[in-house]
Amino acid sequence: MNKELLLDVDNLVTRFYTEEGVVRAVDGNSFDLYTAETVGIVGESGSGKTVTMLSVMGLIENPGRIESGTILYKNEDLLKKSDKEMRKLRGDEIGMVFQDSLSSLNPTYTIGGQISRVMKFHTNLSQKERRKRTVEILDSVGIPEPEKRAKNYPHEFSGGMRQRALIAMAISCNPSILILDEPTTALDVTIEAQIFELVEDLKADFGMGTILITHDLAVVANSCKRVAIMYAGRIVEKSDIYDLYDNPLHPYTRGLLNSIPDLNSEGKTKLPSIPGEVPDLIKLPDGCNFNPRCKYAEDKCFIDDPELEEKNQGRSVACLRVDEIE
Ligand SMILES: Nc1ncnc2c1ncn2[C@@H]1O[C@H](COP(=O)(O)OP(=O)(O)OP(=O)(O)O)[C@@H](O)[C@H]1O
Ligand SMILES: [Mg+2]
Repeated sequence: MNKELLLDVDNLVTRFYTEEGVVRAVDGNSFDLYTAETVGIVGESGSGKTVTMLSVMGLIENPGRIESGTILYKNEDLLKKSDKEMRKLRGDEIGMVFQDSLSSLNPTYTIGGQISRVMKFHTNLSQKERRKRTVEILDSVGIPEPEKRAKNYPHEFSGGMRQRALIAMAISCNPSILILDEPTTALDVTIEAQIFELVEDLKADFGMGTILITHDLAVVANSCKRVAIMYAGRIVEKSDIYDLYDNPLHPYTRGLLNSIPDLNSEGKTKLPSIPGEVPDLIKLPDGCNFNPRCKYAEDKCFIDDPELEEKNQGRSVACLRVDEIE
């Protein structure tokens, strides 16, 4: 399969104009995604991961605004599309499983009914065809006895099964891109592993490009080839996953990786805590956003704002002292 550029996001800036001030949720980020790959986005709570993806999906609402940047999907600028075009694109071309969506399944419709409704909006399939396709898609996400299960209500599904159903819904119209926003936080490790196996299969079978947002570094190590580390609204490091583990460049990434016990351990490896907290995105510090927590920070780090710069192929970092620290 030829690698095709699916998504090319350049210099994306998304802000929220709240009464307390301007929240710089996404502050000039660039990343891309090719067919049949999974890109990971990792960062602490409040670093702008979800807002980044909601921007791509055209789902930023008042008081939020995409200020600048481009979002190209297969070379088409999504920021120039109408609401109607974006509604069609969501589901048709880009499927997303939203954060905390386990609870968002409608309890009053059957699982099959909910998947069928998505297809009703996005395809010309007849009701009979939709019913057939629903069973197929439930089968493809590993739901046993799909014909019977399609008639179940969400409460009759376990957490892992509901997550599979949500993925089924997101991929029911064969999107080119699947965005998963912390898809397994509520699930135990065994079910989590099964969900990621499923995503691997879908990627191999359909060439889907996947963006995986997570707090869990072990998940990234297992499923992603490339990863972007976000801090306070910015991507501070982009790297191939092996290089990142081998030699993290940004002090924040170093901090994250330093305290991981064992990547192959069975337990969930949540982001380890680095002393201090993510700054208020309304009142960002002068200079580098990470300076209040950075043990390497010196005078210039409190004055100049580091840009994400390419160090070598596929490897970028935003740190003024990257060449000086060992
Ligand atoms: N509707 C909104 N109005 C105002 N601020 C918002 C809104 N939505 C998000 N934000 C702010 O944007 C910033 C980034 O939030 P976002 O949800 O993207 O973080 P995240 O990295 O996904 O965190 P988490 O890991 O907890 O999901 C936060 O400071 C958040 O408070
Ligand atoms: Mg989020």
